[in-house]
Amino acid sequence: MISPVHVLVPALFLCSSVSLLDAAESDSEALVRATAAVKAATPRAQSDPAHPIFHITAPAQWINDPNGPIFYRGWYHMFYQLHPFSDGSGPKYWGHVRSRDLAKWEHLPIAIAPSLDLGESEIWSGCCAINGQDKPMIFYTSIAPGKSAQTHAEQWAATSDDRDLITWRKSPANPVLSEALHDGKKIYEWRDPFIFHHRKRTFLVTGGNLNETKGGQAVVNIYEAAKPDLTEWKYRGVLFQILDPRARTVECPNFFQLGDHWVLLVSPYGKVQYYVGDFDPETCRFQPRTNGLLDVGPNFYAPNTMLVPDGRRIVWGWVNGFREGPGWNGCLTVPRLLGLSRHGQLRQSPAPQLAKLRGKPAQWRNLVLKAGANPLVLPKTNALEISADIDLQSAEGVSLILKNGAENAKPFTVALRRSSSKTAEGNRADLSIALDHAEQKLNVRVFIDRCVLEVFVNDNHCATKVIPLVDANATLELRPNGGGEALAKRIQCWPLTSIW
Ligand code: FRU
Repeated sequence: MISPVHVLVPALFLCSSVSLLDAAESDSEALVRATAAVKAATPRAQSDPAHPIFHITAPAQWINDPNGPIFYRGWYHMFYQLHPFSDGSGPKYWGHVRSRDLAKWEHLPIAIAPSLDLGESEIWSGCCAINGQDKPMIFYTSIAPGKSAQTHAEQWAATSDDRDLITWRKSPANPVLSEALHDGKKIYEWRDPFIFHHRKRTFLVTGGNLNETKGGQAVVNIYEAAKPDLTEWKYRGVLFQILDPRARTVECPNFFQLGDHWVLLVSPYGKVQYYVGDFDPETCRFQPRTNGLLDVGPNFYAPNTMLVPDGRRIVWGWVNGFREGPGWNGCLTVPRLLGLSRHGQLRQSPAPQLAKLRGKPAQWRNLVLKAGANPLVLPKTNALEISADIDLQSAEGVSLILKNGAENAKPFTVALRRSSSKTAEGNRADLSIALDHAEQKLNVRVFIDRCVLEVFVNDNHCATKVIPLVDANATLELRPNGGGEALAKRIQCWPLTSIW
């Protein structure tokens, strides 16, 4: 919140992102101010009827990317980009939550703040890793006051001696990576460090682009640790250049091994892409074999992944696209378990631990789906999970039509359609998901969290969208598309409880 002393600062300085007084603020002072601001906004944010209950949010205010997910000493930790002073975007801090079981979460104090006294005005996305001396470290992009992030950034680290990862100290070795590493090569929008280990070696990737004037050559850069404490790095070049001309830059790269393959995730100012292929640790180059979109919905960006104790990997994305005003803005997707198909396509399924949030299900079996059939009455809540096993039979696809209780409520339609078909239903839908031609049998999982919708089809297609507020008297109609009939072998719908 604004302290009385700020009021004396001429308006001119208040307008700029850094006032004269702020210029000396340490990160611990910034944490105090930020904590008070989030606390003050919390009652209003929490009482907003649209505030999600089973997606990670901050107690209040703006959040964007998931940062530094890590399993450490029995807890799943998640950090996130937080703007503590409003429910719109602004200078970023790192918020923090943790969970024992990936189902129930608790809020922890804001983890790190900008150190204006050290010449830092924003702390952007990054990762968390344990260094060779067993010390937890956060790596993130540090933005200096008055500098454009497009042309000037550094990668900084903070360390913790605390088994709960609550308190952090900026590393005296900062910047741990600076532009000088690149031997004169200019990397624009240089950001978002992500660390991975391979056969006792530690690597770090960052995003950026090489050519701002030509609309960007989006690249993932790779570095190798030169010291076990991870304070010195060597530039190993460009791991991979995104050839898709629509990708103007790379944000939030994640690079990791999954089974026998390597997976690269990139957020290119557009839909998040994945690439699956091979990594040569000697040349530090990545050769993709397949690629695709992580999520085809309009409100998914900047995912980040966590390696969990059983060796599996979980991804969370940032759900964006909310309106400003209610004292909160943004949430993370549900945790999604990653896998690979036989053909090397990335698969995602809701983490099985989410089943802990379920209440008593409503169930239906062997429903022949026809246009105009009676809609299903859902459990009386607006936090729901639906699972439907559908055989498309002679239908081109199927539409899920969600309608609130009021008689004149405008329905919300999700159309699932085979890619070759161009049915009128598909074109009119609020959200449309193209199926592969061979997908005749569908397992559809739908998560509705008041105004957040996540859809998974056959663990093969995902879509995230912010939707008009669902009420506690909603119905669901499953309607076949393209004239034919389909069969819903089994539909289950569970009320879900809060993750907090
Ligand atoms: C992605 C991003 C990152 C950056 C962060 C700033 O949404 O732009 O590249 O580090 O958000 O909040």
